[in-house]
Amino acid sequence: MTTTATAPGKIILFGEHAVVYRRPALAVPVNDVQATATVSKLMAVPGEIQIEAPGIGLSSSLAALRADHPLAAAIKGTLSALSISRPPACTVHVESTIPVAAGLGSGAAVSVAIIRALSGFLGNPLPDEKVNSLAFEVERIHHGTPSGIDNTVVCYGKPVYFVKGMPLEFVRIGWPFVVVIGDTGIPSPTKDTVGDVRRAWDSNPEKLEKIFNQIAIVVQEARQAIECGNISALGPLMDENHSMLQELGVSSLELDRLTAAARGSGAQGAKLSGGGRGGNMIALVDMADADRVAQALKSSGARRTTICRIG
Ligand code: MEV
Repeated sequence: MTTTATAPGKIILFGEHAVVYRRPALAVPVNDVQATATVSKLMAVPGEIQIEAPGIGLSSSLAALRADHPLAAAIKGTLSALSISRPPACTVHVESTIPVAAGLGSGAAVSVAIIRALSGFLGNPLPDEKVNSLAFEVERIHHGTPSGIDNTVVCYGKPVYFVKGMPLEFVRIGWPFVVVIGDTGIPSPTKDTVGDVRRAWDSNPEKLEKIFNQIAIVVQEARQAIECGNISALGPLMDENHSMLQELGVSSLELDRLTAAARGSGAQGAKLSGGGRGGNMIALVDMADADRVAQALKSSGARRTTICRIG
């Protein structure tokens, strides 16, 4: 018997970092990349779980992994949610096309896929809300103090307007739009940039609170523009959000170079997306300009680009 589940990647359109401080953010799933978990029966003594994740060179029994290893935590969290202490012996195989430490939600997607596949294999598929809360617990290991937006957008697979601690709201896309995602190719764990913003906040809370409030206004305006299909308003809002992220200290020469290259080749606006420093940036484009902007990003050092239609 085999059970498979997948989960998409994600991009944050607006509001990263400020969302950790209970300001709103907008995020959408990216279905071009995904994590897949497959759980299959293993001829071994009950309770034995083998984990295979060739993409990260991992082949280990669950028992041999640190309890705080993210894959172990996703499996143990699922077993404990189902009150199962001795599951049938099985192999959990994980594959992902989502780049790691790139701001595309790879850790969250892997957790969601594992929790769904394992709970399905055990005959008790967990509801989205439970999958989301278990994935959030794993995110805490990855990020320290995550807002919960990554696991939420990846779990529900729909555009979200997210405020930490508030009921989740889905966003209606009034008119489809296109973004080009540009990957700096520089790994940048979210935990590091979130930690740096925390230290900056500790030393100057007034300054950071002011930036977070400005970001919150941009997010509200962006939500309205997205829902009304007023796409031409989004580009300038992306540029504003990027400047605010620069002020927070989470941009980098590479991200600034790629966002400038995107604007210079016809994008309507551009910003870093996710934790920053490395990872990805996004540029809003007309479909007709998408290839040209993607090419300009590559010429300016992007390791890869993805053209993504939203809505
Ligand atoms: C990471 O995708 C988004 C951050 O805002 C962190 C978080 O919300 O947990 C940087």
